[in-house]
Amino acid sequence: MLISGRGSNLQALIDAVAAKTLQAHIALVISNKADAAGLDRARAAGIETMVLDHRSFSSRDDYDTAIAQELQARSVSLVCLAGFMRLVGPRLLEAFPNAILNIHPSLLPAFPGVNAQRQALDHGVKITGATVHLVTGELDGGPIIVQAPVPVRDDDTVDVLSARILIEEHRLYPEAVRIVLDARCRLEGRRFVRLPE
Ligand code: GRF
Repeated sequence: MLISGRGSNLQALIDAVAAKTLQAHIALVISNKADAAGLDRARAAGIETMVLDHRSFSSRDDYDTAIAQELQARSVSLVCLAGFMRLVGPRLLEAFPNAILNIHPSLLPAFPGVNAQRQALDHGVKITGATVHLVTGELDGGPIIVQAPVPVRDDDTVDVLSARILIEEHRLYPEAVRIVLDARCRLEGRRFVRLPE
């Protein structure tokens, strides 16, 4: 998993694995920030952690190659981004084709990029939500795996709306990982299609 901060989605995956509702092993948590609270969550769960600070690398390619090498050294099959505040470049995308997931706090393709909850409030939508998608070279633009709607209330602040969305995120991310690991799915162009059980 790749994180940069709080790590509540990481926690949701840790909890799902512990509860055996998700059959997976979280091999490594990499953060680009040494003070990310998510690192403590990983350590508390006995998961190996690593800080790879993008500022110590001379290029995006070098940084992505370093991340890819650490993940491949642990035979990782799926890479989950959760609040990882760096763009993923070609070196990492090529190392894990169609095997990098991200969670985003809006119903994509609405409100990509940063401050998605603020964007939704400013636009005045009545429904926003959360999306888990495959990562491609396009920011928040890859094939959509699962989505969940969340109502926007007239008196919402960014914090209140974010908290409501986060509840759905924590349910959605383990579900998305389960779907992808079960491999009962295929890509048709940019459509992520689930196969019958
Ligand atoms: C989440 O809202 C996620 O959708 C977005 O960044 C936030 C990360 O939160 N990409 P956390 O670090 O998982 O608590």
